[in-house]
Amino acid sequence: MTRRAVVVGTGHYLPERVVENAEFEAMPELETSDEWIRTRSGIERRHFAAEGETTSDMAAKAAARALADAGLTTSDVDAIIVATSTPDLTFPSAATMVQAKLGMTNGFAFDVQAVCAGFVYALANASALIASGQANRVMVIGAETFSRIMDWTDRGTCVLFGDGAGALLLEAQEQPGANTDRGILSTDLNSDGRYKDLLYVDGGVSATQSTGHLRMQGNQVFRHAVEKLASTANTALDRAGLSAADVDWIVPHQANIRIIQGTAKKMGLSMDNVVVTVQDHGNTSAASIPLALSVGKERGQIKDGDLIVTEAIGGGLAWGAVVVRW
Ligand code: UT7
Repeated sequence: MTRRAVVVGTGHYLPERVVENAEFEAMPELETSDEWIRTRSGIERRHFAAEGETTSDMAAKAAARALADAGLTTSDVDAIIVATSTPDLTFPSAATMVQAKLGMTNGFAFDVQAVCAGFVYALANASALIASGQANRVMVIGAETFSRIMDWTDRGTCVLFGDGAGALLLEAQEQPGANTDRGILSTDLNSDGRYKDLLYVDGGVSATQSTGHLRMQGNQVFRHAVEKLASTANTALDRAGLSAADVDWIVPHQANIRIIQGTAKKMGLSMDNVVVTVQDHGNTSAASIPLALSVGKERGQIKDGDLIVTEAIGGGLAWGAVVVRW
């Protein structure tokens, strides 16, 4: 038998304020249009956090919904991992703030920072904690307030990102040890720090003592994305003794519909096998995959027993994939 991290609950939270592309079109200084944003990125709208609404506020709401979905309480949870690049404060971690907001005094909590690949990295960490017996139930959350690090004069970035949070509750379950098991079957993580300048924030504690703004050479990131995403997804599938033909759903990082389409095509899969939320959420960085998983389940797309591959790439560059049977 093999100890696997099995998904037993999902939840998500999107802030109330919805910003349509038309709002950016109405800002003449940006010289952008709904048509450009839609055709180049697939994004139609995104949510922005309210003033004073923080990453840990949204993360706690998503986690509470995942707990309710699982029919469990915080005393059943051993650990909280929050994937975020936009924590409330420099420290303590957003995860410990979520722990307090959930009224949880047991267990341990920490953040993972791998930008848009953060949720994939957090899932890999949670799976390892569970497989090694260090935890029985781990709440894995992706939560971001990227609206707080936008340069509102840079049309190349400010129209692309949004805020939100998604959560998965993982539970240790003894499974037969085959690739037909439920739970996380394999992971593949990669990074290459030589590409720092393609996507970064130009401020931080140690370098500038300020928060900074997001800077991206979008077309350069785009070039790496399709190739690296298809490759990491195939590597993870291979590690599980599976192939793209076995996949029910790709649940990709939601940055750009053209990247999502290109990756599916490279893997030989149809868009009918892809959960797509980019049109409604924009790029929510580490929150995009758990948001898409939770929404995909709500829509009735994702069902028990489905084989899912999640993949993401972002600042670092850091990228990776996780294969999970729902
Ligand atoms: O989540 C982390 C990973 N990030 C990503 O995966 C993002 C990857 N990159 C992308 O999604 C795309 O590169 C973008 C959507 C950011 C841009 O699409 P693109 O097809 O790569 O366009 P581009 O950057 O090559 O720019 C094309 C043109 C430029 O004008 P010129 O130089 O051709 O005259 C830009 O100045 O589009 C212009 N442009 C805009 N025009 C209207 C850039 N942003 C805008 C805008 N509205 N908002």
